[in-house]
Amino acid sequence: MEFSYQNPTLIEFGKGKIARIKDLIPKEKTILMVYGGGSIKKNGVYDQVKEALAGHTWFEFGGVEPNPTKETLDKAVVFGREKGADYILAVGGGSVLDGCKYIANAYYYEGDGWDILEGKYTASQAPQIGAVLTLAATGSESNSGSVITKAATKEKRFFHSKLSYPQFCVLDPDVLKSLDERQLANGIIDSFVHTCEQYLTYSHGAMAQDYYSEGILKALAGLAQTFDKRDDLWYANLMWLANQALNGLIGLGVPQDWATHYIGHELSGLYGIDHARTLAIIQPNLLRVLADDKKEKLLQMGKNVFYMDVKDPEEVIKKIEELYSSLHVKLKLSSYTDDKELQSKVLFLLEKHGFVDFGDRGLVSKEVVEKILDMSL
Ligand code: NZQ
Ligand code: ZN
Repeated sequence: MEFSYQNPTLIEFGKGKIARIKDLIPKEKTILMVYGGGSIKKNGVYDQVKEALAGHTWFEFGGVEPNPTKETLDKAVVFGREKGADYILAVGGGSVLDGCKYIANAYYYEGDGWDILEGKYTASQAPQIGAVLTLAATGSESNSGSVITKAATKEKRFFHSKLSYPQFCVLDPDVLKSLDERQLANGIIDSFVHTCEQYLTYSHGAMAQDYYSEGILKALAGLAQTFDKRDDLWYANLMWLANQALNGLIGLGVPQDWATHYIGHELSGLYGIDHARTLAIIQPNLLRVLADDKKEKLLQMGKNVFYMDVKDPEEVIKKIEELYSSLHVKLKLSSYTDDKELQSKVLFLLEKHGFVDFGDRGLVSKEVVEKILDMSL
């Protein structure tokens, strides 16, 4: 266990908290308010933001897509600069927040913003970001990660930057009530897999990280069980659990294995499949292929999360699949695409993006990915 930890994002959690942005953004700032496809104009979030910003100078840029593209975000950069904006307010789900992190990091760069994703440019300054989160899933509201797609090449890549942490984030669980069941299920699954990626590795004895992860997993499984009886507390729990799953805390100083995410990102880039749905397909099969290597943690998860007394990791993997299926999520790629070249395309992109022998111990070789994809078709 060895780590440095600082999470600088102020969190305002609770009903009616959008009004707080009035005081959180300095009055002298010119704000670029960025949102997605328009859900905020139907569910009252836009009106609340508008009211809160009545005393500020602000401009709006809408149209950031789910799986946000650099092509759209580059337009936001140009627009923001034209308007003289020096503060970015993200209002939306993970895609809008990730998009704003790209906008901020590309803002003072004259070159192509994609260079950031390729590791060719690292920003040393950026406008500050504030956020109003409308979808609980990614944890983007208080982490430094951002996942961006280049539509021209169908590549989906990620970058981390200290400048990407939002200065503040408003988490009002009430705004989740306008989400459809597909996005709510996505939120549970994405948070569940985030926790697994930092937990299902090998025994290390870091107790806070292990037991906290198990608590989050148990709670998320509980939310799946009560999916049809959603009340205020259900939404509040989902919002906070999703945040805790990927705000950096549970992964401190312990091995992590993001292989499911890396394979999933290529699938979203190629076929536009919802992020969480790629994870639900890939993760159980990845665990199957690596069952011997992850046996200890899988059995620990069975015991402490699902209260199962089993010796075979396959029983635990089946339980995870049951959880996803109970949320009506399809577990085969054939439900989304019949591309005969899927395997070769995914393998090509993984290699291009530097994912060769990856995973917590470098066990995810090309052959392992092939096996996982074979089982997932
Ligand atoms: O665009 P609008 O009209 O707002 O509609 C969105 C979008 O269609 C809608 N929505 C959001 N809030 C709503 C709402 N609809 C009704 N009521 C509301 N309150 O939901 C749809 C999906 O939104 P999106 O932001 O794409 O979803 P999510 O939050 O799941 O974000 C997914 C993106 O985040 C990345 C994923 O790869 C994907 O690109 N990730 C980011 C991570 C990070 N930054 O740490 C980690 C994750 O592993 C993930 O990779
Ligand atoms: Zn994720």
